[in-house]
Amino acid sequence: MKIAAIIGSLRKDSFNMKLGQFMKEHFKNKLEIEFVKIGELPFFNQDIEMDPPESVRSFKHTIDMADAVLWITPEYNYSIPGVTKNAIDWLSRGDKVMKGKPSWIIGSSMGFLGSVRAQLHLREILFSPNIASPFFAGNEVYIGTAHDKFNKQGELIHEPTIRFLETVTDNFLEWMESGAWRV
Ligand SMILES: Cc1cc2nc3c(=O)[nH]c(=O)nc-3n(C[C@H](O)[C@H](O)[C@H](O)COP(=O)(O)O)c2cc1C
Repeated sequence: MKIAAIIGSLRKDSFNMKLGQFMKEHFKNKLEIEFVKIGELPFFNQDIEMDPPESVRSFKHTIDMADAVLWITPEYNYSIPGVTKNAIDWLSRGDKVMKGKPSWIIGSSMGFLGSVRAQLHLREILFSPNIASPFFAGNEVYIGTAHDKFNKQGELIHEPTIRFLETVTDNFLEWMESGAWRV
């Protein structure tokens, strides 16, 4: 199953990137995760939405080819980072490649709430009519105090979190294979 992973942090030591790397490696026999870069996308501009630059075309094409999108989000000021919102705005225009494409959200922050407010906003945005992405519900992943759960090498070392991610990933695969997201 091809999963396009969009990570809302651009910094090199990002916990959310480390989480993405854990997902890719730990579940390599179950999921084919490709990281899709959003940091180089220009700011959305409606004047060029029908004839966007190559970086936007290629980004949209990668999303279009994926079976689902895995959003891995930090929380910035109680919401999603601007880079993520910018990427979503591009996806919502022209050929609306998110329509009907399943979304799965996970996230991490250094606070105790583990990106819960960002994820709430993200779900609301994914519900907008030109995104209209069915999302995987009931398996919320909020990894708080991230600095205590990854070691200095950037590896996720918190066993309860790892076990939980294994359960959620199996549930996600079951949800995808059931086709329940199509309704
Ligand atoms: C601009 C900015 C705003 C932030 N706002 C929040 C916030 O609202 N809630 C929270 O839990 N953490 C917040 N943080 C802390 C982040 O959780 C922390 O920096 C985290 O490591 C970011 O994710 P990353 O490691 O993937 O870059 C904020 C950080 C920055 C840089």
